[in-house]
Amino acid sequence: MVSGTRLLVASLLAMATAACEGKAAGPDNFTGDARRGTDLVRHYQCGTCHDIPGVAGADGNVGPPLRRIGTRTYIAGFIQNSPDNMADWIEDPQRALPGNAMPRMGIPQQDARDIAAFLYTLK
Ligand code: HEC
Repeated sequence: MVSGTRLLVASLLAMATAACEGKAAGPDNFTGDARRGTDLVRHYQCGTCHDIPGVAGADGNVGPPLRRIGTRTYIAGFIQNSPDNMADWIEDPQRALPGNAMPRMGIPQQDARDIAAFLYTLK
């Protein structure tokens, strides 16, 4: 079974890499490095609370699944979804929508932008 598992991991990695190729530019000239963003999602362990497609082991169920979050109309049901608003949300969800259940994690602005670029690959 080891080789089967390896194959699965390899193909998941290939899918994740293909999904995150290059820089994502939004309609408001937003730029972020989606590839770096995937690594950061792992680093900050967003997957302990969220189910995130393309990120191995990210199957948390504390917050909503992030499937197709890149095409969602609202963030957290209140904030117009745009790359800038998404980056602001990740940088400080309590500033974006005080009192909501996602904690402030002290994420620097550039990291938040790269994570937002990754989330925008989820269509
Ligand atoms: C401790 C649990 C927790 C962690 C860790 C966490 N989140 Fe969340 N997140 C939540 C909860 C709870 C919500 C729902 C907030 C709401 O809708 O009021 C949420 C909402 C979101 C949303 C909006 C989803 C939607 O359907 O509108 C995004 C995007 C998001 N989180 C991204 C992230 C990213 C990226 C990370 C890692 C940097 C992260 N979260 C880490 C708990 C968490």
